[in-house]
Amino acid sequence: MQLIIAKDYGEMCAKAARLFAAEITLKPDCLLGLATGSTPVGLYDALIGKFAEGELDFSQVRTVNLDEYAGLPGSHPQSYRYFMDHHLFDWVNIDKRNTYLPDGTAVDSEAECARYERQIEALGQVDIQLLGIGLNGHIGFNEPGDSFPAATHVTDLAPSTIRANARFFRSIDEVPTRALTMGIGTILKAKKIVLLTNGAAKAETLYQMMYGPVTPQLPASILQFHPDVVVFADEEAASVIRERTSADR
Ligand code: GLP
Repeated sequence: MQLIIAKDYGEMCAKAARLFAAEITLKPDCLLGLATGSTPVGLYDALIGKFAEGELDFSQVRTVNLDEYAGLPGSHPQSYRYFMDHHLFDWVNIDKRNTYLPDGTAVDSEAECARYERQIEALGQVDIQLLGIGLNGHIGFNEPGDSFPAATHVTDLAPSTIRANARFFRSIDEVPTRALTMGIGTILKAKKIVLLTNGAAKAETLYQMMYGPVTPQLPASILQFHPDVVVFADEEAASVIRERTSADR
């Protein structure tokens, strides 16, 4: 894993945006794996900025998202479809027919997960998979557990994840308790993985992810086994790593 430490959130997003911009420039029809949450918002803003300046063309870009809340339609402001439209897709010249997320409203969620997994396979290998990380080390919605789920699946959200995500809803009771998420196996198939994390609250999690044991109790730790992972962290998120290791890049 390569660790790139930025001085703050803005610099972290700017650096990561340059990597995504290079991919889109070199491979105009690249397949990007995208993520939601507060972390990638600045990266998406930076990409929108590059598009507005005429630097980037999204017309052939294809995207697959990590996850979606069960039960929320794309019109719901807290659905991940809505998030992606509002934070990226509506601001660039991407063809929305080339943007894929699991359907949270599918009556048969298990069947929808199987369909989504096949859909991703049909699109080909993901060129860059973007990830954030949950406080408990989840990626997508792969919560801590006894094993690493291989494929896209329906999952119960951990109580701590529900609490963490309650800030986006009017009350904690409105937070969905289940989600459809790419599995760990799905994520690991990507050619390259880019993980962004900022803030002191995630510093211990980031340290454990990079230097702790590989365990499903901290799902992101499996990334130690992927051959091409770039972690962008701000100074605060990298603080525990800095304290305990000699990493200083
Ligand atoms: C959410 C998402 C993850 C995200 C994580 C952290 O629940 N499913 O994809 O990485 O939690 O979110 P944030 O970036 O808001 O801290």
